Amino acid sequence: MNQRASNLPPRAQRFEPYQVERLRQAFPILAQRIYGKPLVYLDSAATSQKPQAVIEAMSRFFLEENANVHRGVHYLSLRATEAYEQARIKVQRFLNAGHAEEIVFVRGTTEAVNLVAQTYGKTHVRAGDEVLISAMEHHSNIVPWQMLCEQTGARLRVAPIDDAGELLLDELERLIGPKTRLLAVTHVSNVLGTVNPIRRIVELAHARGAAVLVDGAQAAPHLKLDVRALGCDFYALSGHKMYGPTGIGALYGRRELLEAMPPYQGGGDMILSVSFDETLYAKPPQRFEAGTPNMVGAIGLGAAVDFLAGLDAGALAAHEQAVLAYAQQALAALPGLRLIGTAADKVGVLSFVLDGVHPHDIGTILDREGIAIRTGHHCAQPLMQRYGLAATARASLGCYSSEQDIDALLAGLVKVREVFR
Ligand code: ALA
Repeated sequence: MNQRASNLPPRAQRFEPYQVERLRQAFPILAQRIYGKPLVYLDSAATSQKPQAVIEAMSRFFLEENANVHRGVHYLSLRATEAYEQARIKVQRFLNAGHAEEIVFVRGTTEAVNLVAQTYGKTHVRAGDEVLISAMEHHSNIVPWQMLCEQTGARLRVAPIDDAGELLLDELERLIGPKTRLLAVTHVSNVLGTVNPIRRIVELAHARGAAVLVDGAQAAPHLKLDVRALGCDFYALSGHKMYGPTGIGALYGRRELLEAMPPYQGGGDMILSVSFDETLYAKPPQRFEAGTPNMVGAIGLGAAVDFLAGLDAGALAAHEQAVLAYAQQALAALPGLRLIGTAADKVGVLSFVLDGVHPHDIGTILDREGIAIRTGHHCAQPLMQRYGLAATARASLGCYSSEQDIDALLAGLVKVREVFR
């Protein structure tokens, strides 16, 4: 980074109208060759690649601003605190939350769900109560609720899906009863790509007095988010899925709920005062951010939000849908290939199985062609069981994915077919 660039305030680069080739240049990693072949990165649902602006914002923080936040009176500490709290405001705007205090920085979606389960859940869910999830949840939106149910004597219930991978809303509605305290559902499935009708689900849950947590890890890079329009009580996201760094994410919680919740972890920076007799806790969000936080992660997440804000959201969605449609059509035409997840409303996640070929073999052969996909159960074993599968191959798109990537995938799959003829 040169001196002039480092002195400039972080500024969203604009990519309008949507030009995927130009946009790809913002992601330095995409220029490399793997085994002598151009990298074809189709694993963005596992983790997205990072634009130069995010890399530079994080490096600028270490080069120019690093000090502990909320603790010092010295210049750097104040500057770091300002940058950290600015990042919170960026996330607030990204989610259209009403208040910055409604944004808690966490390690990622997994920690956000555990936080809600062990605070809101512990204080609202009793023996005999029910927690409702869906059949398409990631383990991170299953296991924390199983743990809560074990601790409290509550029961975990599961709303089913159809073969296309769409939630059966009538069944879901039937399962929300007087004992349902909380409904936890993903906005977008990491395996099927299904976009769930969150607003409708929230209406159904709220009509029966149940709170709603939305796992937004896979939605954040693809959809325009508005927690107030969705009406949900909690919304969780991970920085690394949305072009930011790992180890940072955010939990949105409605202010009155966060204010009534007990702390998640104890330690520094989450207190008003401590004596050996009594500790008074800070208000949210500090109450939930014990210890020195992931400051550079928050800065990186803020830069990722700026990056996304610099994209034309409508053009990005149209581009992703065009690549998805191209991919679905092309994959479906391959003999012996079955797409898993064909919901009418879905994002660029393409899970599939190929007759007679184990998904790991598909992944390994594609890898030698420079093509990165994910294979396995995708941390959604109950969903795999729903389809009678142990694993799938999954190609997932990011804002930088193009029809050329899909052409390379198809050529790779033809090679896979030749090997297993
Ligand atoms: N949840 C991530 C995925 O779907 C790791 O691949």
